[in-house]
Amino acid sequence: NAPADLAGRHVVVSAGGTREPIDPVRFIGNRSSGLQGYALARTALARGARVTLVAANVALPDPAGAQVVPVGTAEEMRKAVLEAAADADAVVMAAAVADFRPADYRTSKIKKSESGEPEPIELVRNPDILAELGQHRRPGQVIVGFAAETDDVLANGRDKLVRKKCDLLVVNQVGENLAFGRPDNAAVVLAADGATTEIPRGPKEDLADVVWDLVVARL
Ligand code: C5P
Repeated sequence: NAPADLAGRHVVVSAGGTREPIDPVRFIGNRSSGLQGYALARTALARGARVTLVAANVALPDPAGAQVVPVGTAEEMRKAVLEAAADADAVVMAAAVADFRPADYRTSKIKKSESGEPEPIELVRNPDILAELGQHRRPGQVIVGFAAETDDVLANGRDKLVRKKCDLLVVNQVGENLAFGRPDNAAVVLAADGATTEIPRGPKEDLADVVWDLVVARL
């Protein structure tokens, strides 16, 4: 039986991975099944929250009771997240957002050139949604980021927490089938107030509940 400690609260969760179109059939994207974000949405609902779930390219059933906003690109995710965040008590960015997108979208499929040489694709920066949330937070709003790191996990995490001005950063080590598409996960949660919480490998639901415990303590 979940505690109703998020009753009366609005939380926003982003999930999945954005896709930045190159042409009508190709994209640049990030690997993410959306499982961790969906587990966060389900556990928040169980704890009484009103949940907006901004989902990018996810093939999972809608959690009952959540308002699901489907998006494709980082720009679409930014718009949906910022709009929902306007009256949110907490925002958890579990989505993998592409850092770059192709500078121009080609309306026709790119063909192999006569010479066989590949054409370069010029990239431009996408907005950093988490950094924007950290910068323009409402008073009392709790902002949570996720960071998938392969090396120097904790040092990179601390650095990212400060740079993006979030309250909590959930850092997990990726690579060698450690997180993607698996039902379980392990992480370290770094807090702006200096606290460090280790979450042992377990179901993504359990990790989600620890994240909500830490959020509730800061609301
Ligand atoms: O810098 P990095 O991509 O590792 O940061 C990960 C965190 O930042 C995640 O919470 C992700 O959702 C968020 N992010 C974002 N906008 C971006 C890139 C990442 O909100 N353009």
